[in-house]
Amino acid sequence: MQNIEDVKNNLLSQIAASDFPREILKSSELKKLYGAISSMPVEQRGIYGKSINDLKIVLESAVLTKETEAEDLSVEQIDITAPFDVNGGKIGLLSAENGSSHPLTTELENVINIFTRMGFEAIESRQIDDDNHMFGTLNFPDNHPARDGYDTFRTEEGFIPPAHTSTMQNRILKAGKAKLEADGQIAAVSYGRVFRNEDIDATHEHTFYQCEGVFVSSDATLGQMLGTLRSFFEVYYGQKLKIKTQPAYFPFVEPGLEFAIEKPVALGGKPGEWLEMLGCGMIHPNVLRSAGIDPEKYRGFAWGGGIDRLVMLKYGIEDIRHFESGKLAFLRKFV
Ligand code: PHE
Repeated sequence: MQNIEDVKNNLLSQIAASDFPREILKSSELKKLYGAISSMPVEQRGIYGKSINDLKIVLESAVLTKETEAEDLSVEQIDITAPFDVNGGKIGLLSAENGSSHPLTTELENVINIFTRMGFEAIESRQIDDDNHMFGTLNFPDNHPARDGYDTFRTEEGFIPPAHTSTMQNRILKAGKAKLEADGQIAAVSYGRVFRNEDIDATHEHTFYQCEGVFVSSDATLGQMLGTLRSFFEVYYGQKLKIKTQPAYFPFVEPGLEFAIEKPVALGGKPGEWLEMLGCGMIHPNVLRSAGIDPEKYRGFAWGGGIDRLVMLKYGIEDIRHFESGKLAFLRKFV
């Protein structure tokens, strides 16, 4: 029994000092203690066996304690309130990477820069709006079937995550009325996220970005609008472009047009391959009236189109769903 006690103390101190404490459970001293049972008088075996068992339990738990301590030490403490790069590289995390702008953010900034250099003021659109700005002030009569064309989401309270940036037209016109009377014009672009409840595929997303332009003066013309749009696309794609329009219906413009560019050969286009880029037209007199602007004195033009599509063409992105996917492999191409 004294022997058991000696072995126990000896092995416990070895375990405490070892980097591989479990190895010590295989020690020859222990094996000798086990082996001694068979050479023992039968009546002593019970009590001896129990002591051996107790010893095993003590040693096993000492090994576990030591192993757990070792694990705790190998997990470096991290500061969970620190920016990612402070903890990066520790405890097997990926080493820190710098974040980068999302391609839609970068390109939206490019778009806005082009228009502000042309003299347009830029205003971010809202992400939650109401029926009146989505439809009412845009000359959609109540229950008009054109409302259905916009696949709008609605909240339980009846608010609308806007399906186009045209929801900003009434606000731009109202806010610009004084400037119109003083300086003779309103020139603004509005940009932001829009939402549509439609089936999703490679060219349709429930969430995307639009940019909208509004220009009003006493003598605005469709020709000015086409010149503005052509200049924008030529600057954005950095080359001369062919453009064409065809009639389209939007309740808030008259006449209304769809505006297309010929897909640049440099971007994989073939001559005669047209891409529809946006909707546009002369602002309907009722839209001017709903903002308190007299359509007998002033006229204007407006356009609105998707940013995602613009960027897809620029970079040859084949699926619009990449933008909202959060896939790092996609985003890293734009670092
Ligand atoms: N808001 C329209 C759309 O998203 C586009 C548009 C804007 C058309 C302005 C005409 C004038 O479909």
